[in-house]
Amino acid sequence: MTAELRGVQADVEQVPAWYHSIELAPGIVSPGYFDLRPIVDELPWPDVRGKRCLDVGTYDGFYAFELERRGAAEVIAVDVADPHDWDWPPDAREEGPERAERFTRGERTRGFEVARRALGSAVERRSMTIYGLSPETVGSFDVVVCGSLLLHLRDPLRGLEAIRTVCRESFLSVEEIRLSLSPPFGRGPVAELDGSGEQLQWWVPSVSGHRRMLLSAGFSVGPTAGPFAVRYGPSHPTASVTPSGWRWLRTRLLQRALAGAPGVPHAAILATPRA
Ligand SMILES: C[S@@+](CC[C@H](N)C(=O)[O-])C[C@H]1O[C@@H](n2cnc3c(N)ncnc32)[C@H](O)[C@@H]1O
Repeated sequence: MTAELRGVQADVEQVPAWYHSIELAPGIVSPGYFDLRPIVDELPWPDVRGKRCLDVGTYDGFYAFELERRGAAEVIAVDVADPHDWDWPPDAREEGPERAERFTRGERTRGFEVARRALGSAVERRSMTIYGLSPETVGSFDVVVCGSLLLHLRDPLRGLEAIRTVCRESFLSVEEIRLSLSPPFGRGPVAELDGSGEQLQWWVPSVSGHRRMLLSAGFSVGPTAGPFAVRYGPSHPTASVTPSGWRWLRTRLLQRALAGAPGVPHAAILATPRA
């Protein structure tokens, strides 16, 4: 291993908790909570070459760096400054952010910075909530990407409307979906409400619920992909949990049959803002 690669490896090891598995150099992959690499080419990407692009809820920046890799001229990545800004339900508002800090070990930007340096990236990261997106705060973008964020919002439609105000051409929406509400089990545009604060999850839609959310927020719906599984990475607790019980087996069988692999079922939609 060269001195340069050893330096990258040392930087990777200094990040207390990686969210994304990202290939940072030949043979060096950050040990993420989730690994999007197996599904990234399945997504219905628009042509981003030469475009101004935005990644909303970027975390370690996987989609932002992917936009850059695909030839975007400029990429802005936004995320909230700290877990107090997440949409906690009232009974989790006190304890929740601290619990989240324990999970991330107080560091939510170091992974992005290490990845940015290792990749020689020019992506700019800004602290901001999805609800704060507007032409006045960030300008407008040819392409917007948002992944696995709507389920964490109490008001996903307000978030989507904010995206709509800054999106000129294309919006790639990649979201968790509930297989048990989707074909062949159900066909309606519905969403399951959690709202307990335990995992900070609010609404998980069916496949057609995801489409309807985009339509309701002022987008036309284009090519779609999925359901597919966003795979667990080496840091995810399920990687070290011993499986047991009928419920676990049923979930895993359903995931394998309908989403192709174990992981969290998602669907992706390429949408365009309606005039
Ligand atoms: C489940 S992670 C998804 C990360 C990445 N987009 C992906 O698809 O792998 C959700 C991200 O959204 C961010 N987030 C949560 N609430 C937000 C809000 N109101 N505005 C912007 N980002 C938010 C979190 O901080 C976290 O980085």
